[in-house]
Amino acid sequence: MPNSPSDTPRRITVRRKGPLLVEGPVEIELDDGTTVSSDRFRVALCTCRRSRRYPWCDTSHRARSHPGGDSDAGSRGREAAGE
Ligand code: FES
Repeated sequence: MPNSPSDTPRRITVRRKGPLLVEGPVEIELDDGTTVSSDRFRVALCTCRRSRRYPWCDTSHRARSHPGGDSDAGSRGREAAGE
């Protein structure tokens, strides 16, 4: 994984009611000390802790959205795919 000052900054996109979108590849260290990794060009990291695939977002956060207020509808499916 590149990590020098000349590398372009890694972009992380914060979504108000959803996952963090992180440009990959990534290696994630979990709170129990284990690590998981992905070679995808972008991954969706769960911030709600409801995902059954934690730390990856599986779109379970949408269950908390109020009816008619699903502002993430346009990205449905892409997050689960880690894009
Ligand atoms: S942010 Fe937790 S499932 Fe999507």
